[in-house]
Amino acid sequence: MNVFEYAETILLKGDLDNKLIDKEIIDWSVKSPRSPIVVDLPVRNDSIRISSDQVKFPKKGALKDSYQRGKALHFFANHELLAIEMMAYAIVMFPFEKESVYKSLVETISEEQKHLKLYIKRMNEFGVEFGDFPLNQYFWYFMEKMENIEMFFSVIALTFEQANLDFALYYKNLFKDLGDSKTAAVMEVIYQDEIKHVARGRSHLSKVVSKSEEYISFWDYFLSLLPAPLTADRAKGMIFDEKGRQKAGLDQAFIQNLKDYKGDFKITQRKEWKS
Ligand SMILES: [Fe+2]
Ligand SMILES: [Fe+2]
Repeated sequence: MNVFEYAETILLKGDLDNKLIDKEIIDWSVKSPRSPIVVDLPVRNDSIRISSDQVKFPKKGALKDSYQRGKALHFFANHELLAIEMMAYAIVMFPFEKESVYKSLVETISEEQKHLKLYIKRMNEFGVEFGDFPLNQYFWYFMEKMENIEMFFSVIALTFEQANLDFALYYKNLFKDLGDSKTAAVMEVIYQDEIKHVARGRSHLSKVVSKSEEYISFWDYFLSLLPAPLTADRAKGMIFDEKGRQKAGLDQAFIQNLKDYKGDFKITQRKEWKS
């Protein structure tokens, strides 16, 4: 199958196995011209269906309890599954990009699949099955706002995945402090991969900036690509991991601007964003 069929399998087949389809199945020599397709929501089987039911993320103090840790991992796993589907959607939504763009997205999908499997394995050890709690579609909401692949990289890689550097590091340390080195090790794998994901988005956008005829800073370019109501606030978490951002190749001016950034509090207030 070609890369578009691979992406459609992830989006339009409901089994978890299809969401975890191996990238080796892609035949890169098959090129078939096609039109962009619109997908309202990814297809999901009943056990992993998207739900609007609300469930609260466990409070920090509750994470001493292993079942609650499993519930926290369930939240993170939901984000991984949505990431897999959103990257697949970007492939079929923008079918006229260079092959290198798809290769970069497919590489990221395969790492998100690895993360999803790691989370599922660990939550199972805590007595939680994937699908035991409602799975929301929060991040998917932004897909209808994507006008081009640059916007996609700004929203997904440079906003949500960049914030995930902070979240992954924070929870890695928290689990370590709780004596759960096994879950901390899972978070470390995710943290290291997330640096790569931010770097892939940064690399694509840097090329555009460097080719631009008029001078624009990377920071201003990033801001110009964020669709309302999303602001740069959402690109950071409860801690600010400067080292991870440096490793992802973000320049110091960008890092400082983000660190100092304060957006519209009403929109970016953490508890309102929480799903
Ligand atoms: Fe991930
Ligand atoms: Fe990621």
